Amino acid sequence: MPEKNLALLTFGCQMNKYDSEKIAGILQKSGIRLTDDLDNADIVILNTCSIREKAEQKVYSQIGRLTPLKKKNSKLIIGVGGCVAQIQGEKILQRAPHVDLVFGTLNIYKLPHLIREVEEKGERIADIDNDYSEDNDLAPVKREGSIHAWLSIMHGCDNYCTYCVVPYTRGREKSRPKESILSEIRGLAEEGFKEVTLLGQNVNSYGRDTGEDIDFPDLLSIIDRVKGIKRIRFITSHPKDLSDKLIKVMADLPKVCEYLHLPIQAGSDRVLTDMNRGYTSGDYLKKIDRLKESIPEIALSTDIIIGFPGETDGDFEKTRDIVKKVCYDGIYLFKYSPRKETPAAIFSNQLSDTVKRARFEEILKLQKEITLKKNKELEGKVVEVLVEGEDKNANGKLIGRTRTNKIVNFSIDMPEDRKSLIGELVNVSILKSNLYSLEGILINIKGGGKYA
Ligand code: SAH
Ligand code: SF4
Ligand code: F3S
Repeated sequence: MPEKNLALLTFGCQMNKYDSEKIAGILQKSGIRLTDDLDNADIVILNTCSIREKAEQKVYSQIGRLTPLKKKNSKLIIGVGGCVAQIQGEKILQRAPHVDLVFGTLNIYKLPHLIREVEEKGERIADIDNDYSEDNDLAPVKREGSIHAWLSIMHGCDNYCTYCVVPYTRGREKSRPKESILSEIRGLAEEGFKEVTLLGQNVNSYGRDTGEDIDFPDLLSIIDRVKGIKRIRFITSHPKDLSDKLIKVMADLPKVCEYLHLPIQAGSDRVLTDMNRGYTSGDYLKKIDRLKESIPEIALSTDIIIGFPGETDGDFEKTRDIVKKVCYDGIYLFKYSPRKETPAAIFSNQLSDTVKRARFEEILKLQKEITLKKNKELEGKVVEVLVEGEDKNANGKLIGRTRTNKIVNFSIDMPEDRKSLIGELVNVSILKSNLYSLEGILINIKGGGKYA
């Protein structure tokens, strides 16, 4: 049978990017290989995001752009997966007659079967059944790099923040069994991966539903003992569930990196209540203080929504104050976007785009100053970098990340040796700090070698 080509277009968050690695892995096992060339594809899959209205609209224009391809090749299979597919299901088939297959976020493992059904029976299928099956976790993954791996430790979300579509797209919270996670990480270590990032919408509530006597800090302690893995990261933490036990484990475990993404969303307690976040800004700041006390080198980042319904100038100032107080290393800023599936879409006092944009720009400017200032503090310092590969934009340089998740491009005295350093932990002296990356020079390899 001739090999088939798959073009995979991915939108949205890390969770979706990871799902795409899974789609590629599972289809590769059925003899289908990835291509960047849409014109040459036998199957095109869009892995979609619906976090904001614009993202969802984009999906339909993307689907529209595939019409000429289908006209040219009537055998082309067009599939739509991800969060928009999960919510819209059949509707996509009705609105886009050239789409053959719609599949949900929890049934990627069924793809080879679904594609066969489309091919053999000529049927158009929408399968968005979202019952959790371990088969999805056990499906092969075709990872982008060879040093760092994403893996999911839980699915779904039960928090129902009033603005957020995720509980409707990813279903109820479901923790993956500990043994399944561990065996995947051991396998990754054997393949030579050095760093893992554990994924979940709210990793801090890991284990509540498993029936196993285990929580997230326990899981970290177990993973920390896996030989070959040198660094552990995780996203996302929900402030209401961030425990003292987790802070202690982060401080104590050698492989858990000094970096935490802790979304605050807004600085005003009234807005936080309306968002159903389950904490006050005071609770949040206390946890930040404890984190800074226990892990002095910690880097922090956050998500902020600007212009939630009813956000006054005073509320907005509170968000600005938090940004100044915490001094984040980075922020992901979002303008509030009403999602019709969610309660906040019909809250009164929806703000105009002009107000949202002005507030957005203000925080963005403030944060850029803070990020640059924090990065500048690293000039002249020596940092540990896990080397991820060659810097494609600079001949002879290498690229990696600090434990605090900052990108470092660095040069080495003997560039001909650079390939042998990939996957190593090295010490780099920082010569220059930019807004989004640091530049430096190799000092030595941690643990010896000829650079020691
Ligand atoms: N589970 C994670 C992140 C989920 S989505 C968490 O709770 O932190 C990523 C981010 O998108 C959210 O943190 C939020 O800041 C943003 N977001 C979610 N819904 C949104 C909406 N309707 N409008 C604008 N931003 C939104
Ligand atoms: Fe969305 Fe809130 Fe769940 Fe995060 S915790 S995914 S923001 S509902
Ligand atoms: Fe992620 Fe977008 Fe879905 S942010 S969880 S892909 S709605």
